[in-house]
Amino acid sequence: MILPVIMAGGSGSRLWPLSRKLHPKQFLPLTDDATMLQNTCARLEGIESQPPLLICGDDHRFIVAEQLREVGQAHSGILLEPAGRNTAPAVALAALRAMAGGAEDPLLLVLAADHAIKDVAAFQAAVMRAVPHAEAGKLVTFGIVPSAAETGYGYINKARAIDEAETAFVVQQFVEKPDLATAEKYVSSGEFYWNSGLFLFRASRFIEELSKYGPDILEACEKAMQGATFDVDFVRPASEAFLACTDESIDYAVMEHTRDAVVVPMDCGWNDVGSWSALWEVSEKDEQGNTSKGDVILEDSHNCYVQSDSKLIATVGLNDIVVVESDDAVLVATKDRVQDIKKVVERLKAEN
Ligand code: GDD
Ligand code: MG
Repeated sequence: MILPVIMAGGSGSRLWPLSRKLHPKQFLPLTDDATMLQNTCARLEGIESQPPLLICGDDHRFIVAEQLREVGQAHSGILLEPAGRNTAPAVALAALRAMAGGAEDPLLLVLAADHAIKDVAAFQAAVMRAVPHAEAGKLVTFGIVPSAAETGYGYINKARAIDEAETAFVVQQFVEKPDLATAEKYVSSGEFYWNSGLFLFRASRFIEELSKYGPDILEACEKAMQGATFDVDFVRPASEAFLACTDESIDYAVMEHTRDAVVVPMDCGWNDVGSWSALWEVSEKDEQGNTSKGDVILEDSHNCYVQSDSKLIATVGLNDIVVVESDDAVLVATKDRVQDIKKVVERLKAEN
């Protein structure tokens, strides 16, 4: 049986000023009327699976519960982290929870709550192709053909196909967030996929691999789950034990080291909507290539992303610019520098 695990604990800082600590991007309706989290749930309809298990920060418990309720989404519980320790501990908690009380050992379909996927049927078909490999004990990653030398992604070097139908390939090497020169080399070789950040594996296989490559993380998470408290739908791991856990992503902790990874290529119009330019790419545009939301007038402007919350925004003669107005902040940036919005958020944090 498949148990989807939805990771919804990120901060989405590059989508400031809309994405905020108390309301990060996975809880915003960025691509249509539904929020990213709601769309992540909706995408599961049609995959034979249990209701999803959610894992997020304690601060966000009511937002998550309310957004699921709003769309009538059933779930298998909401795990609450006292503070984020990144995705390796998050998935470890989910895997331990999934196997608790001698329950069957499900296939965990690990999903990010904040990705856009255009072709849901292609996404579901890739998941179904991955099932036999995960059942055979492999850790399946879903690979995207790279379109640029992005440094914010994991890169997967594929080796031989593991089946005649070529549905999956042995992972020769997994490199998380390489530097630009390395990313360029990987992309031009044609031998690499981007890691989509979605995974399928048996809960017990993940735990086994984590015990080899991140035993301290596993130990902290086991302790935290042994002391967990239950409050209707909410599951709270013991705070002190969990906070002592190393902060590390699943990619660095397990995927770079395991010898049992396979990659299933996925061509589904995937976008991780990590920045305003990525959001512009997946959004509807006018004939001049502009995306505008809210009260906006664009005069002789091209390929801009302009979003107003309460004020009228008018632009004249702008190209490739992002303007986002929220109730207490206005962002103006060139589209090729939107990655650096992180730096603004860091400065704000340091000043407050
Ligand atoms: N519950 C929980 N707790 N969720 C978390 C935490 C945490 O501490 N940290 C991150 N998440 C969630 C985020 O909300 C997001 O949905 C997902 O986990 C991935 O985290 P990101 O922080 O967005 O990772 P990334 O984008 O830097 O890198 C990952 O995704 C890329 C594709 O988008 C890696 O898997 C890369 O290899 C991959 O290419
Ligand atoms: Mg991301």
